[in-house]
Amino acid sequence: MNETVLVIDAAGLVRQYHTGGTVIRALNGVDLRVDRGEFVALVGTSGSGKSTLLSILGCLDQPSEGHYCLNGVAVEALDTVALAQVRNQQIGFVFQSFNLLNRMTATENVALPLRYADIPRAERVARAELMLERVGLADRMHHTPTELSGGQCQRVAIARALITDPALILADEPTGNLDSRSGAEILSIFRTLHSEGRTVVMVTHDDHIAETASRQVRLSDGQVQSDSRHAPRKAPA
Ligand SMILES: Nc1ncnc2c1ncn2[C@@H]1O[C@H](COP(=O)(O)OP(=O)(O)OP(=O)(O)O)[C@@H](O)[C@H]1O
Ligand SMILES: [Mg+2]
Repeated sequence: MNETVLVIDAAGLVRQYHTGGTVIRALNGVDLRVDRGEFVALVGTSGSGKSTLLSILGCLDQPSEGHYCLNGVAVEALDTVALAQVRNQQIGFVFQSFNLLNRMTATENVALPLRYADIPRAERVARAELMLERVGLADRMHHTPTELSGGQCQRVAIARALITDPALILADEPTGNLDSRSGAEILSIFRTLHSEGRTVVMVTHDDHIAETASRQVRLSDGQVQSDSRHAPRKAPA
């Protein structure tokens, strides 16, 4: 079967900020369609609107104008409760600064999204442990983020993003706070996710990283400047 399914269908996205009497158009009419299984690198200079777009795609923010359908659901029509549910179940978000809870162990952090999904505790823990094994942290499950390296924290964050089996994985500079070796390890996890058929949109400043994705979307002044698909280049060993 070769069915293509649109995970992201966004049209005419505008995001304005009103600050100190001026209006900033962080997004100025962005159209973006992403099929299931694509690995999109979102690139562009600082201030071009990448994080703003990612927040809207992740339902953390809403556009001032435009339409966004996530996995066939028109997001703008949802109320706050339904939106929170979509965020919880359809989106896995990975941030540059990990955004883990320092008082909780790796397992508890990873299991957290399942708590909102009403899954019994024993199952939450079992699934979180399995996910931590997948990202190579079987021996760090009971550590808290302050007892882990940056690369390990980012693996915990990836495990947490994957735990609900989301339709879309979003990552904003996931290797930005890591040394090159840990960054390469994190990137290789994303590549594996892509090869398993997952849909990934990743913001990166690094052209080399962008080249390993299957598609590059470049933003400039809140607009899509270019959009190109190519076979992913093999990462260096
Ligand atoms: N909360 C906000 N209030 C006002 N302006 C904002 C806000 N967030 C972002 N902006 C502005 O919107 C524009 C786009 O910001 P955004 O964070 O999306 O850029 P970016 O491409 O992610 O940049 P970077 O690569 O530096 O992370 C910038 O001009 C920024 O100053
Ligand atoms: Mg940003």
